[in-house]
Amino acid sequence: MRIDIITCLPKLLESPFSDSILKRAQDKGLVQVMVHDLRPFSTNKHRTTDDYAFGGGAGMVMMIEPIDRCISSLKEQRSYDEIIYMSPDGELLTQSLANQLSMKKKLILLCGHYKGVDERVREHLITREISIGDYVLSGGELAAAVLSDAIIRLIPGVLSDETSALSDSFQDGLIAPPVYTRPAEYKGWKVPDVLLSGHEAKINEWRHDQALERTKKRRPEQIKN
Ligand code: ADE
Repeated sequence: MRIDIITCLPKLLESPFSDSILKRAQDKGLVQVMVHDLRPFSTNKHRTTDDYAFGGGAGMVMMIEPIDRCISSLKEQRSYDEIIYMSPDGELLTQSLANQLSMKKKLILLCGHYKGVDERVREHLITREISIGDYVLSGGELAAAVLSDAIIRLIPGVLSDETSALSDSFQDGLIAPPVYTRPAEYKGWKVPDVLLSGHEAKINEWRHDQALERTKKRRPEQIKN
């Protein structure tokens, strides 16, 4: 898979991809993440990528031209399955959406900033819009990192134990059951006996019951779905 991220703040995206699972996925050649600075695609003297809103009002708007030039240069080199604009008013990111996107081969993620992008970008240049939650971030960069992480960990071979993505919360509509590690007792707080019993069938049953209980209590809407 290849993910191209377009941003006017490329530094914000350095650390999420240079550590842990996302770094290893790139080192193993399972995903290629390319971050593109929008500034060089600006044609004006100061290489600016935003301007005042027509009609007035507070906040700068990202201009269409640098975005169009950047997307066009990427599309000249390869074709993309989706060109996604990260936006608080987009489709809400869910595990199911992450699963779908993890099966794509080439994605562009466009990060918005300031008061957003010129509406013509949304009308003509992108294929979908995704939000990571009903709150507003300062820009789309952190949202793009969240979306990339949710997708990349699902690519076969990225997680060392492939079943560990399958047992994530929400993969089967249930929240994951509680987990424990050593010591078996700490300050008098004990690990449930069943987990120390070595009885696999009983452990699996306990985990399933716990997952169901947790989901009913914390996310009842998941059960209905
Ligand atoms: N940009 C700003 N806020 C966002 C959000 N909640 N999701 C995606 N992109 C955003």
